[in-house]
Amino acid sequence: MSWRSHHEQNRASWNAVTPAHNRHKGDQAAFLRGGGSTLFPEEKSLLGPLPGLRIAHVQCNCGQDTLSLAAGGATVTGVDISDAAIAFAQKLSADSGIPARFVRSDVLDWLATTDERFDVVFASYGAFGWIADLDTLTAGIRRVLDPGGRLVYVEFHPIAFMFDRALQPVDVYASGGEPIVEPGVSDYVQAAGPGLLHGADDAKIDDTPFENPHVAHAYAWGIADVVGAVLRSGLRLTRLTEIEHSNGWKPYDAMVPLPGRRWTLPPGKLRFPLMYTLEAERSEPASRTP
Ligand SMILES: C[S@@+](CC[C@H](N)C(=O)[O-])C[C@H]1O[C@@H](n2cnc3c(N)ncnc32)[C@H](O)[C@@H]1O
Repeated sequence: MSWRSHHEQNRASWNAVTPAHNRHKGDQAAFLRGGGSTLFPEEKSLLGPLPGLRIAHVQCNCGQDTLSLAAGGATVTGVDISDAAIAFAQKLSADSGIPARFVRSDVLDWLATTDERFDVVFASYGAFGWIADLDTLTAGIRRVLDPGGRLVYVEFHPIAFMFDRALQPVDVYASGGEPIVEPGVSDYVQAAGPGLLHGADDAKIDDTPFENPHVAHAYAWGIADVVGAVLRSGLRLTRLTEIEHSNGWKPYDAMVPLPGRRWTLPPGKLRFPLMYTLEAERSEPASRTP
């Protein structure tokens, strides 16, 4: 089966799970109208001052981060394959009064065809693991960046997926983009408890079980795969960091809470990074821009 049919099955799976995720999150428009932001310090510090920045937020899901960026003064286009996510994001923009443009598209198609150009392409937390072809992705990212523009990526570390909830090793380190068929995108917001609720006053977990009728396809990309694709695209890697806490996501039962909806490993000998950040620049002069 081609990557396109895999991506289309993912579209159905994300469409099915999107209402399940949002049922927990309360009045998100009121949260945003009241000045709330869903962004974590890692992406804020990498992005830098937002006013005037033109950002492409790829795999933007329901637009909460997109609108938090726009509220900070950036001009943002959010792109996602899910019809349900983009419809929710457009309504959230209207209801919150925060303007942003949202496009429903496979990110590989949009990056290859859009006429828009940006200072930053931003993606985060569960993004490139859904994309079958990293070289096409990074070539597209380079294409839409103006010279001097940057890719800013904040992601959960592939090592974190080697362990089960009891911190026992259960899987090999991801590499080479091997396809993984999943039963369907899960209600990970329910599983995360307060970590992904973003802080709306009336947000609370709905315990009703959710079963996704549509399988999903993920891809086991390791850090070397992502960095390799970035370098092959001609972007210049300017920063790569590993971080020993997790923003929002609580993958293991014994994790210790940190302030600001973050989690770290319990004390002991087992220490490993839970997230990484990557920044890469399109550095060639304007004359070489196609
Ligand atoms: C875990 S969510 C990312 C959450 C995001 N960081 C946010 O701001 O909320 C992953 C998103 O990737 C989207 N996605 C998966 N495959 C895609 C593709 N081929 N093109 C565009 N979006 C895709 C899904 O629809 C989903 O909304």
